Amino acid sequence: MDIYLDNAATTFPKPLAVPEAIYDYIVNNGGTSGRGSYEKAILADGLVYQTRKSLAKLFNHDDPKTVVFTSSVTESLNLALQGILKPGDHVVTSALEHNAVWRCLKTLERDLGIYISVVPATAQGETDIKDVVAAITPDTKIIVFTHASNVLGTIQPIEAIGALAREKGILFLVDAAQTAGVIPIDVQAQHIDLLAFTGHKSLLGPMGTGGLVVNCDVDIHPLISGGTGGDSAYEYQPDYYPNHLEAGTMNVSGIIGLSAALDFLKSEGLETIRSKEDALMDYALNALSTVPGIELYGPQDSSKSVGVIPFNIEGHVPEEIAYFLDQECHVMIRSGLHCAPSAHRLIGTVTRGTCRIGIGYFNEQAHIDALVNGLKSYLKENN
Ligand SMILES: Cc1ncc(COP(=O)(O)O)c(C=O)c1O
Repeated sequence: MDIYLDNAATTFPKPLAVPEAIYDYIVNNGGTSGRGSYEKAILADGLVYQTRKSLAKLFNHDDPKTVVFTSSVTESLNLALQGILKPGDHVVTSALEHNAVWRCLKTLERDLGIYISVVPATAQGETDIKDVVAAITPDTKIIVFTHASNVLGTIQPIEAIGALAREKGILFLVDAAQTAGVIPIDVQAQHIDLLAFTGHKSLLGPMGTGGLVVNCDVDIHPLISGGTGGDSAYEYQPDYYPNHLEAGTMNVSGIIGLSAALDFLKSEGLETIRSKEDALMDYALNALSTVPGIELYGPQDSSKSVGVIPFNIEGHVPEEIAYFLDQECHVMIRSGLHCAPSAHRLIGTVTRGTCRIGIGYFNEQAHIDALVNGLKSYLKENN
């Protein structure tokens, strides 16, 4: 039996309804969205709009038209940061960012002349709101924070940062890659102006889907220009949503798969999903602590974290452990820096990396048992 424990990278398996919906659309419809007046195209358009509505409901956003589809959270974050920031703008960000934010900011710093302040965090990945306050300057245009670290799992104080940003009139952009679909997100109560999400992680949808919820009145310059299916004689990108930020034929099959995943999430309930993942995390932390020489990082507390557990085994190389688990035990985990070197600096693993398990809704205790037995066999063979 193959055991998949890399759900922080992408969730697997998906609910069966997801591939079924994609298959049904490709085989029985196949029409494009927003570009035809025949019945099938209108049906496809309706399904895309329905997905915007489901996402708006999930995030408590009141206007589905400003739920913009992208190919990934990486594109959504680039769209927001590149589309808003101007030379001389200042950005406040966390010490835990994925390269989807960090490389985008560094490129804008080099090429456009923006300024970046990084808010410090503890080795457990915890951020103190006082440090966010201290980082703000009169030029601060955006605060961009990951909702939960993909390296340490730590959930960030999004609501407090949102309230602060609103009070100071600063835009608040949240990277919800690790939380959307497992932790409740309310863009209104949490004062999130721009929410970037990806479809293929805890939302349980297919790769190639993602989006940006625009919950504010800010001018975002489109990343790309092109056909939108309407107003075609107008020579620029229309200024109304969602067309303003969506150009080219949409990933309708992916969006329809995402819609089926959102229906699944709704029928299971976020609370059920979160409590199953929390219980598995507690079980895993306990079980992993019996492995000789294990070094566990992060908060090691399911109430403060998503289902991500980073670890090393003293004197051993993370890649070799992950390779052994895969080849000998059919257990798939991640090793390395997970595209987020800043978080590794906090725990002193930026040169070595860590192993990481990412718990998903379809994991069971038996999967954790197989991991822990695998680690013990690895030690038997390699000590
Ligand atoms: C916190 C965080 N942000 C951004 C990303 C990038 O996601 P994607 O590759 O779907 O754009 C990831 C993926 O691992 C992530 O964990």
